[in-house]
Amino acid sequence: MKTVLVANQKGGVGKTTVSDEIAFALERRGYKVSFQNLDPQGGVLHAPTLPKDDDDFLIVDTPPTLHKDFAEWCRAADLIVMPTRASTLDQIPLMRCWDKAVKSKTKAHLGIAVNFYDKRRLADSDFLRYLANCEMPVWTTIPTTTAIVQAQAAQMSIYEFNKKNKAAAAFEELCDRIIKEVG
Ligand SMILES: Nc1ncnc2c1ncn2[C@@H]1O[C@H](COP(=O)(O)OP(=O)(O)OP(=O)(O)O)[C@@H](O)[C@H]1O
Ligand SMILES: [Mg+2]
Repeated sequence: MKTVLVANQKGGVGKTTVSDEIAFALERRGYKVSFQNLDPQGGVLHAPTLPKDDDDFLIVDTPPTLHKDFAEWCRAADLIVMPTRASTLDQIPLMRCWDKAVKSKTKAHLGIAVNFYDKRRLADSDFLRYLANCEMPVWTTIPTTTAIVQAQAAQMSIYEFNKKNKAAAAFEELCDRIIKEVG
């Protein structure tokens, strides 16, 4: 079983949304997925489940803090996805979290999901260039869309809600990348 940790100490960047959507996308591909929520806030569509021996993936949502056990969580992961917004204010917490993950000596593959992304915004393309310079791979860019909020209200994935939405394609891309990285 491969463990996917979804983490960033910054709040409201889309950790829970990304965790849910990864789980939905893997399930749609026929993988057996269990879900763990380390964030006492809750607010996730997937109910926590006990991992079973024949599960293919464990998806782990985390709280918006640099938790004391963060390094340990990183070491237990095969893959770490860090969702972030593309703004200067998000840069420092992201770098801190990335640094801590690297220093944990995790064997996990690390990648970024840039959420609330707008390709017409200069600051957003600058942010992508900055990540490229730091050799921090961007596994997907997710546009801002009310369809995500509507899908969550209907308790379904964005793909199920409207597969033509660009955010659906973004999560498909992320899921394919996850499978490629740990496959
Ligand atoms: N791409 C998007 N477009 C529009 N709304 C989004 C997008 N991604 C997430 N949201 C919304 O933004 C809010 C925050 O998302 P989410 O709860 O996933 O973030 P989080 O990082 O888990 O927050 P927290 O740090 O509190 O755990 C939610 O209301 C969610 O529906
Ligand atoms: Mg959350």
